[in-house]
Amino acid sequence: MPTRPSLLHIRRALPADAHTLAQLARQTFCETFSHYDPAALEAFLREHYSPENFSAQLADTSCELWIAQSNGQPVAYAKWGAYKLPLAPSYERVVELHRLYVLRSHHGRKIGHLLMEKALRYAADNRAQAIYLGVWSLNRKAQGFYGRYGFVKVGEYDYPPVGEVVDREWIMMRECGE
Ligand SMILES: CC(C)(COP(=O)(O)OP(=O)(O)OC[C@H]1O[C@@H](n2cnc3c(N)ncnc32)[C@H](O)[C@@H]1OP(=O)(O)O)[C@@H](O)C(=O)NCCC(=O)NCCS
Repeated sequence: MPTRPSLLHIRRALPADAHTLAQLARQTFCETFSHYDPAALEAFLREHYSPENFSAQLADTSCELWIAQSNGQPVAYAKWGAYKLPLAPSYERVVELHRLYVLRSHHGRKIGHLLMEKALRYAADNRAQAIYLGVWSLNRKAQGFYGRYGFVKVGEYDYPPVGEVVDREWIMMRECGE
């Protein structure tokens, strides 16, 4: 019997999604980054990936959080909005793609692509001249994905420490058409 195609729904996250986002963010962070001390990682996640933290992000009008659901289950999320990276941007009007995370079980199904399209739409709607992002220097997979969309490396910085580990991050940028 043929399997039923999964139903994908991508929408702006609501205040009621704070718990769901915190759980999804935790899971995708742990799937992506396995080089931290477990106790330090737990402390970092408690501080930065709590439901309260996501409630605050959802109330921040300078940013947007989006969520992707497959057959009603949360499988990816993304965040974009005001530029906050520690590098003077090359343009007056810029935005930042803060997060883009798809559950490992759902990689390669164009979910990242659909969220990227929404981020680029946001940039265009806000008349941004460029969109920036930060990505771990050793996350070659994500760098390759961003490269497909025309992002190029324009700088580096140190990510806030997780325990004793200070990760080097790349700053990538893509110009946006007028
Ligand atoms: C990076 C990530 C967002 C990509 O999302 P995805 O849903 O797996 O990717 P998609 O299926 O939408 O792929 C879209 C296109 O990019 C291509 N692509 C995907 N990964 C790629 C890679 N590593 N290098 C080059 N191209 C890639 C796909 O082949 C596809 O191209 P096509 O349309 O020509 O087939 C996802 O793998 C992920 O969440 N990774 C873990 C979290 C992470 O690292 N996030 C970034 C933190 S900064």
